[in-house]
Amino acid sequence: MSAIIILNYKTYNESTGENAVKLAKICESVAKSSGVKIAVAPQIADLYRVATAVEIPVFSQNLDVVGPGSFTGHVYSKSLCDANAAGTLLNHSEKRMTLADIEKAVRYARKCSLLSVVCTNSIKTSAAASLFDPDFVAVEPPELIGTGIPVSKANPEIVSDTVEAVKNINKDVKVLCGAGISKGEDLKAALELGAEGVLLASGIIKAKDPKAALEDLVSMI
Ligand code: G3P
Repeated sequence: MSAIIILNYKTYNESTGENAVKLAKICESVAKSSGVKIAVAPQIADLYRVATAVEIPVFSQNLDVVGPGSFTGHVYSKSLCDANAAGTLLNHSEKRMTLADIEKAVRYARKCSLLSVVCTNSIKTSAAASLFDPDFVAVEPPELIGTGIPVSKANPEIVSDTVEAVKNINKDVKVLCGAGISKGEDLKAALELGAEGVLLASGIIKAKDPKAALEDLVSMI
């Protein structure tokens, strides 16, 4: 089974600054040895240094709907392209956007060849997001985020029903799931439910041995 794994660095100390690069190198080495696609999403300030240190795809955690000009503190799409980002997360549950901004952000991303991953919290919001034609929809029940309780086991219906709802609207959109994913069996269960990969964070970043945790994650596919 082929799958994509996106490691969202969030703002953990273990994935900030120089640690962002170290973790990306671990991801790159596991991606090479396993043949599984692994991408990382560091903080904006770390994106360029990570993207210049590894060859795996590097995503932004966010993109703001702004053009060039007077927009202090915003994340401008062109700055992500110039930093060699491959894509961006949008509407993460820790960084929600309005529906109107999600639609625009997907367009802004595509305009400069950035892949877009729209995060959602339910089957209905996943269906709505798929109308905007992003590259990925990633369904993540917020109540399971950071708990270590995998969505693919605790709430398998949200994954399979999201896949069905999204594919009914737009077959080109790939569906990921996330929240509480950390082990090989969690990823395997997600793929069996029809997801094409996972978005995850704490299970790897907070692990005593992130490399061993990543190796376990890809061990059953
Ligand atoms: O974006 C990934 C996410 O929110 C899930 O977090 O820590 O439950 O893997 P975590």
